[in-house]
Amino acid sequence: AARAALAELLGNMRAGIAFTGAGISTECGIPDFRSPGGLWSQNKPIPYDAFVSSRAARNEAWRRRFAMEEAFGGARPGRGHAAVAGWLADGRLLGVVTQNIDGLHQLSGVPDERLVELHGNSTYAVCLDCNCRYSLSWVRKEFDDAGGVAPDCIHCDGPVKTATISFGQAMPAGEMMRAHEWAMECDVFVVLGSSLVVYPAAYLPIEAKQAGARLVIVNREPTELDPLADLVIHADIGDVLDGVLPHPAAF
Ligand code: OAD
Ligand code: ZN
Repeated sequence: AARAALAELLGNMRAGIAFTGAGISTECGIPDFRSPGGLWSQNKPIPYDAFVSSRAARNEAWRRRFAMEEAFGGARPGRGHAAVAGWLADGRLLGVVTQNIDGLHQLSGVPDERLVELHGNSTYAVCLDCNCRYSLSWVRKEFDDAGGVAPDCIHCDGPVKTATISFGQAMPAGEMMRAHEWAMECDVFVVLGSSLVVYPAAYLPIEAKQAGARLVIVNREPTELDPLADLVIHADIGDVLDGVLPHPAAF
């Protein structure tokens, strides 16, 4: 019954938002943050202030990033990403709003102008002072050559960090604005694989609902926003979305 209700909602969707979290990438082999065995159970997150003020914190952050790269750098989009890319190709979505930093929506064919990355992107680095961009491979080489010491910006000596948003770091204003505007206009807001405990990201489904959208949540576990939703499905994203709407293979 839930599947039929989902098929009907998605079938009628004309200006939707797919709002994704780490749960859409677990079937690609990338662990989420808060499930048992998730990333935050292995390591505490390094807050922004610590990264900026401490060389040791920067070294540790980069050590973790390169370990992630070795474990998951080759990850490919999964069934959830394919479904979302299909909805977009079918003209059903205003856009995709993701909290993920793994770049898998881009790999599944979602163009930048239809993708908001609320928490940034971990596939390149930036200088926090002058904003210039560095490739991971450049950082890696400097890091290894220095025996595990994070490099500083070659132009201004500023700290170089993955282009992601850490706890305590300002959200990207333009991305927030774009997501907010879509949330005000969307007809269906589909949450895929997020615990919905991190704000301000989790305000978006609330705003969309208040502005009149239907709210759908597909997540293995209950979330705090389940009571607000028109349809809640507690199951694996890939299993739920696979074949619910016919969609073209996007990649
Ligand atoms: P979480 O780890 O908090 O939540 C992921 C949710 O996905 C959990 O509730 C899982 O039960 C569910 N899940 C996992 N695999 C699934 C699957 N195959 N099908 C369905 N559900 C599945 O991750 P996020 O909500 O994305 O931010 O976390 C939000 C933010 O917290 C992240 O962007 C990150 C983190 O700290 C920053 O680092 C700023
Ligand atoms: Zn710089």
